[in-house]
Amino acid sequence: MQHYDVIIIGGGAAGLMCAITAGQRGRRVLVVDHANRVGKKILMSGGGRCNFTNTGTTPANYLSANRHFCKSALARYTPWHFIEMVERHRIAYHEKELGQLFCDESSKLIVKMLLDECAAAGVRIETGCSIERVLHGEGTADAPFRVHTTRGVFVAGSLVVASGGLSIPSMGASGFGYELARQFGHEVLPTRAGLVPLTLSGKHQERLADLSGVALPVTATSNGQSFSNFMLVTHRGVSGPAILQISSYWQPGDDLRIDLLPGQDALDTLQGWQHERPAAELKTVLGDTLPKRFAQRLCEHWLPNRPMKQYNLPELRHMAEVLQAWPLVASGTEGYRTAEVTLGGVNTDGLSSTTMQSRHVAGLYFIGEVVDVTGWLGGYNFQWAWASGHAAGEVA
Ligand code: FDA
Repeated sequence: MQHYDVIIIGGGAAGLMCAITAGQRGRRVLVVDHANRVGKKILMSGGGRCNFTNTGTTPANYLSANRHFCKSALARYTPWHFIEMVERHRIAYHEKELGQLFCDESSKLIVKMLLDECAAAGVRIETGCSIERVLHGEGTADAPFRVHTTRGVFVAGSLVVASGGLSIPSMGASGFGYELARQFGHEVLPTRAGLVPLTLSGKHQERLADLSGVALPVTATSNGQSFSNFMLVTHRGVSGPAILQISSYWQPGDDLRIDLLPGQDALDTLQGWQHERPAAELKTVLGDTLPKRFAQRLCEHWLPNRPMKQYNLPELRHMAEVLQAWPLVASGTEGYRTAEVTLGGVNTDGLSSTTMQSRHVAGLYFIGEVVDVTGWLGGYNFQWAWASGHAAGEVA
């Protein structure tokens, strides 16, 4: 039986940050991961360049049953703290858009940085180590947690659950953290895939399927939330940043509208076209603004195609409505196989927002994606992982 001060289950973004912070305080820290290497999602993130934070991070960029929960941790470990570490390790980075910071070279450098920091802080990491069971209250008073693994039994005073969500099971994702939460009396809010492509069915899918690969700027709106960015038509539905973002706010049956002329007043635009190009057909004029094949398809199924001069005002009004609030009837999502994150998870009601410690079991912590805090696309999820990992690492 080996003794530690802190055992961390999961060597992803949150677990490694927690390990560094606790290790730097002189705590004896063990990270246990069942995968053959740590930080796999960091490696695959941002197209291999890791969008490691967003300088515009605010609590408004997160979904949670309690919108206030993330505030304390985010305020105490900001993007600038992580940037300081990145710069100290001489990792070159750049801003892509809207405060999103990416490595110039490779996300491997972020994992190497975290592992170097772990080594400097004396953290031990066990990969390829499966957990058989976790017991509480069987050890001594100062080391009540007993973790049975395929590498032996480890005991500790603090247990940090950083095992992530359900997205990308092929990368080691498991529901283990949720099971452990329930074992210790925590409520787990329903989980679902977030930041995920949407699927279409029936007529909608038939009408768009052969346009796969066509991309256009849009504003996607559902349940009072809007995102302006690109939409990409896929074989099975729609994807692209605007769709991934809105997918976290949409559920089957919810209304989903796409503004195909974002930033424009569609009626003004149509009237302008009517005035400037009266003899041209709608599909031709529209095809100069939208991708041609997409404009043509709209005019086959959603809009009447005639020379511009033939439309009266009520018709133009109707067409403007279609262009500004095109109803996209999605049937579902591509699911955890391709989702970037898992929405829902360990209910924050059972956790301290300053330390991430359980309100039910002293010394037990939940951090990162396993908790019901989910960020938008754009580096916000890693920032939550760093911030919540740091918050727990300061006290565990
Ligand atoms: P994470 O999933 O990183 O780590 C959990 C760890 O626990 C894993 O190492 C896993 O093997 C281990 N584990 C699971 N079950 C276990 C068990 N039973 N026993 C032992 N170990 C176990 N975010 C962002 O901000 N910018 C970006 O660019 C991207 N890009 C991106 C791309 C793709 C393809 C995906 C899937 C996701 C992203 N994300 C992202 C989201 C981001 O990767 C995610 O939010 C964080 O990795 C969450 O960090 P955690 O440490 O909580 O979980």
